[in-house]
Amino acid sequence: MKMAFLISGCTRHTQPLSINKDNVMREEKHVPRRAIEVKFFKRLAPPLVAAFLVLSPISTTPVSGAQIVDIQRGGTLFRQACIGCHDAGGNIIQPASTLFTKDLQRNGVDTEEAIYRVTYYGKGRMPGFGKECMPRGQCTFGARLGDEEIKLLAEFVKLQADQGWPSIETREK
Ligand code: HEC
Repeated sequence: MKMAFLISGCTRHTQPLSINKDNVMREEKHVPRRAIEVKFFKRLAPPLVAAFLVLSPISTTPVSGAQIVDIQRGGTLFRQACIGCHDAGGNIIQPASTLFTKDLQRNGVDTEEAIYRVTYYGKGRMPGFGKECMPRGQCTFGARLGDEEIKLLAEFVKLQADQGWPSIETREK
């Protein structure tokens, strides 16, 4: 399922991933017969997506090794600092402020810069994680994050939002 992280800039790739997501959703309903199919598809999906990415002439932005590493680092940071409130891109405290594009747009947080700012300084009941986050009451009592880390997070969140949060990987750790 790591492949879900690797998709960058190729909006047309949302199709195979949303199929994958549907399967996952079906699985949650515990339909026994479907479960077998789902298992089959889940096993097949990553190589299919991989092949699609490699072969696809549509993609004008090939994903470089460095980008993959960045996305994975962003994912790791997300699991460490954000997943408590934003599991799978949701928002357990404020359900109308998820990390899905629809909410991000409505709330004016749909650019990497805006996501960076919210993550750095916080907003409402979300604490800021930046080293120079101000005022103190708005900032996390936990570990602060470096500027570079917040940048990776902003990239990760934006990418995930663009793809409709395809990766269920974020739930694993
Ligand atoms: C303690 C819970 C909590 C944690 C941890 C948390 N957030 Fe949030 N987040 C919120 C809340 C609550 C909001 C809504 C704030 C508002 O709009 O007033 C929010 C909003 C956001 C938004 C804007 C969403 C929108 O639709 O307006 C982004 C982007 C965001 N968080 C990113 C992050 C990132 C990245 C991390 C990890 C570094 C993180 N959050 C950690 C609670 C949290």
